[in-house]
Amino acid sequence: MAFSLFGNLLGKKGVIGLDIGTASIKLVELAHDGGRFNLLNYGIFELSNQEEAIETSHAGKLPEENIVAGIKELLTRANIKSKKVIASVPSFSTFSTVLSMSYLSEKDLAKTIPLEAKKYIPIPLEEVDMDWTIIDTKPATGQGTPVVDVFLVAMAKAEKEKYKRIIQAAGLELISFDLESIGLIRSLLGNDLSPMAVVNIGGRSSSIMVVDRGYERINHNYEIGGFEITRSIARSMGVNLARAEELKRSMGLLQDNKGGTKIVSEAMRSLLDMIAFETQKTITNYETGKTIKVQKVFLVGGMANMPGLADYIKGKLQIDVSVGNAFARVVFTPKLQPIIAELAPTLAIATGVAMREVNI
Ligand SMILES: Nc1ncnc2c1ncn2[C@@H]1O[C@H](COP(=O)(O)OP(=O)(O)OP(=O)(O)O)[C@@H](O)[C@H]1O
Ligand SMILES: [Mg+2]
Repeated sequence: MAFSLFGNLLGKKGVIGLDIGTASIKLVELAHDGGRFNLLNYGIFELSNQEEAIETSHAGKLPEENIVAGIKELLTRANIKSKKVIASVPSFSTFSTVLSMSYLSEKDLAKTIPLEAKKYIPIPLEEVDMDWTIIDTKPATGQGTPVVDVFLVAMAKAEKEKYKRIIQAAGLELISFDLESIGLIRSLLGNDLSPMAVVNIGGRSSSIMVVDRGYERINHNYEIGGFEITRSIARSMGVNLARAEELKRSMGLLQDNKGGTKIVSEAMRSLLDMIAFETQKTITNYETGKTIKVQKVFLVGGMANMPGLADYIKGKLQIDVSVGNAFARVVFTPKLQPIIAELAPTLAIATGVAMREVNI
């Protein structure tokens, strides 16, 4: 169990963005102040079942009480006064897709979307809550009807209830859910409309999405994350998991001439190559048949902090790859300057969901 947080800086109340991951719980409190965001507070609670999670990659089964206890501990230690929470939900708990549909009327869409949705949502529609929004309109050609691109998202009702229970038990008030991907778009891209990819490498899994004209267009999740990378270092080097984790964080892919670091990077090469490959595949899937090119890739999630990772992926993809900076549009105390670069990729989702416009 580790904490890294600081006390309430300005004595103000803001909105809390909450990101419950498999490796850590992240919380960011932002105040919206005349069009600017102020970082009031943040906290990262590394979940105590790390070793077990690293061993099995099944940290998703963490009991609710542990999550509640983690959130409570964060709130106390960081002295957070606000109760209002926007919770991010991970891509693997939601189903989202972009549908191209002919447009007759709003009413007609509302009728036809569920029929289409059935093809994409692998569980019965009665068990999910669905939401959709039109993200693009193509005017009618000739006799045809206009075509709209609809961003569709669904979340299992049972999953929603679980979040509600956890947040309530932690003494907080849930004001809304937000998709991880939407949080990332908000914190990383702001108003930038050019096509980019965001790769989130967490503990249990990774996700990649392509964002174009401000909306997520495609996404892909796969079960390779930091836990498996640590496991692979431990196995190759014959060290325990704690030592492997330490090596991952301190050396990562940095090369010197002492051999040791080379072994660390060799140990994870095939997994990192898979991450690069999946990223390339998703980008190519999106670009195929279009004239646009994805210009940039942002890495987020705790793993984005691994020394040398962005350069390594850049070498593989041959496009601009950098660590995402969630605080580019956020005002924070100069005291945080020395660590802000390290916090930024880990807190990217929590920051983005806290940026959601809400009336409170
Ligand atoms: N400085 C660092 N260098 C290398 N790896 C790091 C660093 N900090 C955290 N990590 C790794 O990042 C992973 C956790 O990332 P993150 O906190 O984003 O995961 P999570 O959101 O809890 O997990 P998930 O999204 O898969 O549920 C762990 O495997 C951890 O070892
Ligand atoms: Mg995560």
